[in-house]
Amino acid sequence: MDLATTGTDIEKVIATHDQINQRLAEIARDVERDYEGRDLLLIGVLKGAVMTVADFARTLQRHVEMDWMAVSSYGSGTKSSGVVRILKDLDRDITNRHVLIVEDIVDTGLTLGWLKANLESRGAASVEILTMLRKPEAAKVDVDVKYVGFDIPTEFVVGYGLDFDEKYRNLDFIGVLAKHMYE
Ligand code: PRP
Repeated sequence: MDLATTGTDIEKVIATHDQINQRLAEIARDVERDYEGRDLLLIGVLKGAVMTVADFARTLQRHVEMDWMAVSSYGSGTKSSGVVRILKDLDRDITNRHVLIVEDIVDTGLTLGWLKANLESRGAASVEILTMLRKPEAAKVDVDVKYVGFDIPTEFVVGYGLDFDEKYRNLDFIGVLAKHMYE
């Protein structure tokens, strides 16, 4: 779904589809270089990261494997709760694997901080993080994020996997949700 179709729901565009794809291609070149000669496992965090994993994996010029986890951090509101629960675990063992967690957004950092520690405790050879978006001003814990698409201000963003009440995930761009949609 594109900007014209969303009408007044979106008050500002953060990244267009072209900008997203260009940034993912830049990150892919970094990842190809950083993981040269090593197997790589992408772990997508459902549901928000679906678009990022799909587009990132396709621009990577090398083999990767993919697995998926689902964790819960938010309710249907706009604030992080800090409570992390595994809703769907990995299908395979990650002992001695080089893992790259792929996320749509690092907000408070609570989810990723917890997830990185969890995957490291399973004996992975390395665990790094790629996120499409990061809100530096919202950080409550320090998380070492190796690859960042865009740093953004603390606004309520939707699109390209990010939802409000399960809607807007299928926007082909990332935008700020207009306040009249949730206030
Ligand atoms: C979002 C996002 C991260 C988390 C980030 O997921 O995908 O997992 O919140 O927030 P934090 O840095 O404050 O912990 P969400 O729980 O909304 O699930 P979803 O991906 O299924 O939409």
